Amino acid sequence: MMRVIHSVHSMSTSARAPLPPRRTLLRHATTLACAALLVCACSGDGSDSGSGSSDAEETSDSTDAPATTGEGTTDESATQTTTAGETLTSDGSDGETTAVEPTFTFHRDIRPVIAASCEQCHTPGNIAPFPLTSYEEVYELRELVALTMLNRQMPPWLAGGDCRDYEHDPSLPQETLDMVETWVAEGAPEGDPDDYVAPPPPPSTELPSVDFALTMPEPYTPVGAPDDYRCFIIDWPAEGDTYVTGFRAVPGAVDEVHHAIAFALPPEKLAEYEALDAAAPGIGYECFGGPGGEISSPDDIGVWLGAWAPGAAPSIYPEGTGLRIPAGSKIILQVHYNVPADGAVPDQSGVELMVADSVEREAFMMLWADVEWLWGQMPIPAGSPSTVHSWELDPTAVMGFLTDVIPSNVPIELHSATHHMHTVGVRGNHTIKRQGGDECLLEIPRWDFNWQNGYVFEAPALLNPGDRLRLECEYDNSAGDSDLNWGDGTGDEMCLGIYYVTEASP
Ligand code: HEC
Repeated sequence: MMRVIHSVHSMSTSARAPLPPRRTLLRHATTLACAALLVCACSGDGSDSGSGSSDAEETSDSTDAPATTGEGTTDESATQTTTAGETLTSDGSDGETTAVEPTFTFHRDIRPVIAASCEQCHTPGNIAPFPLTSYEEVYELRELVALTMLNRQMPPWLAGGDCRDYEHDPSLPQETLDMVETWVAEGAPEGDPDDYVAPPPPPSTELPSVDFALTMPEPYTPVGAPDDYRCFIIDWPAEGDTYVTGFRAVPGAVDEVHHAIAFALPPEKLAEYEALDAAAPGIGYECFGGPGGEISSPDDIGVWLGAWAPGAAPSIYPEGTGLRIPAGSKIILQVHYNVPADGAVPDQSGVELMVADSVEREAFMMLWADVEWLWGQMPIPAGSPSTVHSWELDPTAVMGFLTDVIPSNVPIELHSATHHMHTVGVRGNHTIKRQGGDECLLEIPRWDFNWQNGYVFEAPALLNPGDRLRLECEYDNSAGDSDLNWGDGTGDEMCLGIYYVTEASP
């Protein structure tokens, strides 16, 4: 076997080694060092780890030159990669050099993965901060690319692996991660562009049909930098009760709309929001994570239609089910803008909906939180690295109080779960507790406020009277200098489960 590449080692073995200058990624210096450690720790050949510290400065200076040129290899006496993609190695004892075929090359093995799993966001003008479309771009960031894949930060998907199966799970299989790791360890050779076979196109993020396409009444140019959280009120066109059967957010300016959540507020709840809108200058009003009003009971949020982040599949509710929207309702679209460095542009985002006049089983979007939290009983002390709040209750016992759609004390099915916390949240878990054995619904080992998505179960979870639904949230407020509690502002926290619920099928 060939020796493991030193550009990776040089970073891990010497804290002195200055990281190569990176236009956009200086803030990731620590992450990069971790990437190196991680790649080293997992690679098969650990024998020469620790040997690179003496030439660390020289090697890290040259890490940005692609391996194919031969000039840029980090330690020429140990490894060179030729344009043919062969790697010349020496065992270091007799100085003899032999050609070794690289196990994986960019064009044959890595590029199809990047094209299938990364390019939808990492293209110029899209949501990700840099493109990953050419060999040079991927090569320059190879350690960070490997790290974010190995620790499952990219492609973005917060659900932990062994909880349950979800639709549209973009997680990469372990073999692919092993392959990327080996490719980086062997110097990230380019190989032959003719070896590239394009992967099948990614699944569509569009609805199969669109009944209503609604947009913000006029464009809005975000003002907060880099983040602006704003709510927009959109008229609901249908007369009479209508059932939403599918939902998708349609970002206007794709490089600045980071996530969106749509709520439908019934006529009797609208006055508060219209007052907020009227009081704020310009279109819309500031809001964070919710529709922006006082939330003293879960139904103050209205009907949660769906959360959307870039790359997310559209929400198509289970066949024969839908959410009832009364006539006279309005949609409140909550948008998180993350303004790119080169400035804000006007955005006019919207939502697309599939609707039906009637459905076989009316669904209820259940918001799950301990009502005591909403009354200020969710303290997260300043300086605390780990505060856990959890709560469990049999939802079937209270169902009749939560909604007029499903009576109390009947079996229900949960079809999807969404987790919602703000920025101090670090971990979340949703579990059905029952005598025959607990059932995991959603485990989020590393919460990231930027990736608000619903997780649709491949098979619905049955919850019988007597079963309890448990929600747990963990927070790290070690950097904070004030105590936090439940609230809707950027400086507040939440712990909310959102489930698409129907009566169990007979
Ligand atoms: C759904 C959109 C999306 C997809 C798919 C995606 N990325 Fe990203 N990526 C982003 C965004 C947005 C950021 C910047 C914000 C963040 O880090 O969350 C980012 C950041 C990154 C970073 C920088 C990480 C850091 O710590 O700053 C790397 C590296 C990266 N992506 C690699 C990849 C790779 C490799 C893939 C495919 C395996 C991929 N991404 C797929 C949207 C995406």
